[in-house]
Amino acid sequence: MTVVFLQYLALLSSDLTLFIGRFHPLLVHLPIGFLLMAFLMEFAGLIKRYEYLAQAVPFVLLLGFLSGIFSAVTGLFLSDGGGYGEDLLNLHKWLGISAVLLSLAAWLLRITLYDNPFYKRIFRVLLTFMMVALIGAGHFGGSLTHGSDYLFRYMPEPARSWFGVSEEEPEQIALIENLDSAMVYPHIIEPIFRARCQSCHDPDRTEGNLLMTSHAHLMTGGDSGHLIEPYQKEASELYRRLHLPDRDKERMPPRGRTQLTADQIKLIGWWIEQGAQNETLVAELDAAGEIGDILLSLTQSGQHFFDRISVPYADIQMVEAAINRGFRISPVAEGVAFLQVGVQQSKKEITSGDMEFLLPIAEQITWLNLSRVSFTEGAISHLSGFNNVTRLYLQSTNISDEDLAQIEAHHHLEYLNLYGTDVGDAGLAHLTSLRQLNSIYLWQTNVTGEGVSLLREHQPGLLVYQGSAE
Ligand code: HEC
Repeated sequence: MTVVFLQYLALLSSDLTLFIGRFHPLLVHLPIGFLLMAFLMEFAGLIKRYEYLAQAVPFVLLLGFLSGIFSAVTGLFLSDGGGYGEDLLNLHKWLGISAVLLSLAAWLLRITLYDNPFYKRIFRVLLTFMMVALIGAGHFGGSLTHGSDYLFRYMPEPARSWFGVSEEEPEQIALIENLDSAMVYPHIIEPIFRARCQSCHDPDRTEGNLLMTSHAHLMTGGDSGHLIEPYQKEASELYRRLHLPDRDKERMPPRGRTQLTADQIKLIGWWIEQGAQNETLVAELDAAGEIGDILLSLTQSGQHFFDRISVPYADIQMVEAAINRGFRISPVAEGVAFLQVGVQQSKKEITSGDMEFLLPIAEQITWLNLSRVSFTEGAISHLSGFNNVTRLYLQSTNISDEDLAQIEAHHHLEYLNLYGTDVGDAGLAHLTSLRQLNSIYLWQTNVTGEGVSLLREHQPGLLVYQGSAE
């Protein structure tokens, strides 16, 4: 009968099926309550004081059975919508159906042969099996909706090791120690997927037949085939889904789940555009402009200059004026007066006049990214005014050896990127008194091993990146 009823309803529309199905998580609590109650009343009835409870057992059992039917039907509707791990789903489904059937059998026995001591015992055995099925169904149901470690995830540590439950993955998206030696997929992209996607795309749940637990699985795709087209983010289904409106059924992560930040979406897009490889270093890829800033923000670990020193907030009008002039400006961290500055994508050239817009806020600028622009006459000379700069990005610019004299007094400078410039050994000679400098990036420059050793004499701990050729 239920099957006919089901087929009839299924004819109506698949949206309706899903609508009805969604009541399942709500409804299941009714039979659980009733059946548990019947079980307790039956056994409490063995105690003289509570003998009277036994009389109500058939009624409560019947309620449990009837509400169980409704739960089972809504459950079948819900599973019809797909997207649940097959094995778990089957376990849950059959345990649930068993519990309902056992409650029916127990009820029938209770209203007919209960007076016979033998059947009375059988009845109690049935009730016990029913409880076991119910608990099992409940547990696997919880795992289906919440992931298989649902029950134990927040277990306190001593109990955790006792039960062999593994450490929880950190919810926070990983920070990176050193950007240049970080690998894009394992260190930057995968942690995002782990935190925001894997709960539904792991071997337990494998929604849309998509496993996101390894690069290889990800590249294999899901129900819709390949989801990532290397170098073409716009043609990548996965990327498309991150951009759909909130209400869209296909949006990922689905509505109600923690969403990705705009920066995380940009990072994923960038990774796809750069070929969606598994094991490339950040340093090997083109990370210009905004992406460079986002990557930088991932390295906010340890003690920073801006944690040790404080400056007054920059004049907001000055900041706005500089933004209007083509710079990108934001605080390096929440609640910090220090600023990071980059150049808007469209701006290819920086003039002396442009630099003058930064001077009024020079005290606050601590990360300065001027990569991939060409400086016109006189622009570089302003660099000497940025005394609080700790990270300076000058890669792929027309900076020369002499220009580096402008930063020889930047005593806070910790990071300098000169990748892809014409800088040579003579330029490095200007950097020997920069005590705080701990990384310098010299891939594709004219610097020789000799120049590097000279610099190292002054700064023994300096990390020098000269690219894969060295
Ligand atoms: C709450 C569970 C849930 C979370 C979290 C989730 N997804 Fe999904 N995902 C689904 C379901 C259900 C489907 C299948 C239905 C569909 O295709 O829309 C799916 C399907 C997909 C598909 C299409 C697979 C195919 O081949 O058709 C992609 C791509 C996808 N998800 C990406 C992601 C990404 C990326 C994240 C994290 C940013 C994510 N999902 C997080 C539930 C989830």
